[in-house]
Amino acid sequence: MKLAILSRNTKLYSTQRLVAAARERGHTVRVLDPLRCYMKIAPGSFHLNYKGKPLTGIQAVIPRIGASVTRYGTAVLRQFELMGAYTPNSSDAILRARDKLRCHQLLAGQGIGLPATVFGDNPDDTDDLLRLLGKPPHVIKLIEGSQGNGVVLAERLSASRSVIEAFRGLYANFLVQEFIGEAGGADIRCFVVGDQVVAAMHRQAEAGEFRSNLHRGGQASRVRLTAAEKSTALRAAKVMGLEVAGVDLLRSRSGPLVLEVNSSPGLEGIEGTTKVDVAGAIIDHVAARLPPVRKRTKRPVAKRKK
Ligand SMILES: Nc1ncnc2c1ncn2[C@@H]1O[C@H](COP(=O)(O)OP(=O)(O)OP(=O)(O)O)[C@@H](O)[C@H]1O
Ligand SMILES: [Mg+2]
Repeated sequence: MKLAILSRNTKLYSTQRLVAAARERGHTVRVLDPLRCYMKIAPGSFHLNYKGKPLTGIQAVIPRIGASVTRYGTAVLRQFELMGAYTPNSSDAILRARDKLRCHQLLAGQGIGLPATVFGDNPDDTDDLLRLLGKPPHVIKLIEGSQGNGVVLAERLSASRSVIEAFRGLYANFLVQEFIGEAGGADIRCFVVGDQVVAAMHRQAEAGEFRSNLHRGGQASRVRLTAAEKSTALRAAKVMGLEVAGVDLLRSRSGPLVLEVNSSPGLEGIEGTTKVDVAGAIIDHVAARLPPVRKRTKRPVAKRKK
């Protein structure tokens, strides 16, 4: 197949692994910086150019779109979709997953377990908002945060109020969750490809820390998932409409709870920890979803009568 990977940086581990896995399997692959793709939109006709040349014949696109370029990146991906290319994660699905409040609403709407979550806009409502959530400890999270930045554990109600006040003072968007203490500072990353969890790792926060992010010193190890964890991860990805997803779970007394569904999950941590060829699984999935290429058969040339 003729494949494009939308990525801002060819040197990233995930991008390099996808390129290598595609080439190993005999596919043609190009890495395109989404910010260098530009497009023409006209009734019923869609074009994409890249660094002065038209992009044609691309059958499949694997998007690796960072949060900072979500809008432009998904517009480029949508243009590819309109031109008939297949993508495991559509522009709509990526936008859905990037909107954390919407993601929580969609998952909860399908009965998928989540830590109880509240959010509100007006400072006058803070007390009632926290009452709605229940007793502390609470976890207050910046909506735009990542790698554990802006994720705060408040043990007392007064601390929750102060953190919320501080975030509001900075005009930051945040949500507040019940703290799942029994998760013991650990979460589980399930890597979903199609209808399988191809790899999973357990991430344990360092002592004295409740955030298990590897960037904050969390330790990753292999883990065996329960049937409930597998099916929760698969259902969460499906609800978001993502064929490739990193689903983060907390192990709670009431079963697996979804923390996040990531539409561009990194490959380095999961491949390093599990030794699974996740990049290969993604490429195989994409190739299997393409309509079979019809081999051109040579028509017998009619013999000319002498
Ligand atoms: N409600 C909670 N109860 C217990 N621990 C939590 C809770 N929410 C988050 N954590 C811990 O904090 C870590 C960071 O939180 P979270 O994953 O929500 O934010 P992030 O990693 O900064 O952002 P994102 O994963 O959305 O990019 C989680 O991996 C988990 O270990
Ligand atoms: Mg996280």
